[in-house]
Amino acid sequence: MSSELVEAWTLREGERPQRGVVEQLRFLVRYAILAPSTHNSQPWKFRVTDHSVELWSDPSRMLDRIDPDRRQLFMSCGGALANLRIAMRRFGNSDQVLYLPTPKRPDHLATLHLGPPHDTTPQDRSLCDAIIRRRTNRGKYEERALPDPVASQILEISNRPGCWMVELEQGSKREIADIVARADAQQLGDPSFREEFAQWLAPRGSRRRDGIPMAKKDLPSALPLAGTMILRRFDIGAGVAAREHELVTHSPMLTVLGTDEDTPLSWLIAGEAMQDAFLTATHLGVATSYLNQAIEEQELRPRVAAASGRGGFPQLILRWGYGPSDVPPTPRRALEDVLFE
Ligand SMILES: Cc1cc2nc3c(=O)[nH]c(=O)nc-3n(C[C@H](O)[C@H](O)[C@H](O)COP(=O)(O)O)c2cc1C
Repeated sequence: MSSELVEAWTLREGERPQRGVVEQLRFLVRYAILAPSTHNSQPWKFRVTDHSVELWSDPSRMLDRIDPDRRQLFMSCGGALANLRIAMRRFGNSDQVLYLPTPKRPDHLATLHLGPPHDTTPQDRSLCDAIIRRRTNRGKYEERALPDPVASQILEISNRPGCWMVELEQGSKREIADIVARADAQQLGDPSFREEFAQWLAPRGSRRRDGIPMAKKDLPSALPLAGTMILRRFDIGAGVAAREHELVTHSPMLTVLGTDEDTPLSWLIAGEAMQDAFLTATHLGVATSYLNQAIEEQELRPRVAAASGRGGFPQLILRWGYGPSDVPPTPRRALEDVLFE
């Protein structure tokens, strides 16, 4: 892939401007855009003032078929907000957030104010470093379990008021695997899903700075990268589903991240929790990936809730383990394309 498309990942702390609050806040946005997003849709925009960074959603980038309520769009933006907050603390200011500050402008998701000076902690540094190294890793993971302290750190950092992450026992893993397989078959059999998915696949050699790059070496792995085949052969559901079943039952740690409520605010907070957990895992050398199709299919979501053993609303199904270490970064839009005045 052309290096220009993945230039965003070459970010280095030493590049932080020495002067000018606006310049320094713009620099923080370079961390924000490295967050994961559904289909790499990057559904965010930012406005920088001389004392804050505003995070806005970009509804033109929403995914009607798999995300009609914008639940995943909010979580993606929550991930970007987590990056902003971590980078703000890393560079010595406390992070003060106002969520959904303008009720009449629901696309204005949060304002992050430049807070008073903050003593950067080792955790601020390690999480900030991890922003650049994090990848969605769809490969097969080794069977070795995560040591207890590693698993606990990942689970603990994501737990916060109104948001939780639970690890699934083997029996529940099998149940989730069945639900995921069902969701795969449903989605792959649905022309509106295939059409939307096709719009977000970036063929090899493409100059696109968003969407999921199709890389043959990623096959066979989780669903998105089976793209070409899905689009050409409509009977692939069972094959993909079988592969996903194995990924689920063999993942060393499978978790459900959920919330007590199912509102835009809880989705934003879930996105922050997701990203904090990913960065903690990256720091600890643990790979992560998603199996979210089961939550995208409305009628399957209650089954995921039941399997998780918690009430509330499941938001993400995540797989954790030790995986291949050579996952390339995905493209990002340029900073200028996500800033507005
Ligand atoms: C809310 C959310 C849901 C996602 N769901 C899936 C999924 O079900 N399957 C998958 O393979 N990737 C999923 N992804 C990962 C994105 O495809 C990935 O973040 C994007 O392609 C950018 O790649 P990167 O994470 O390596 O930077 C999801 C990401 C987010 C934020």
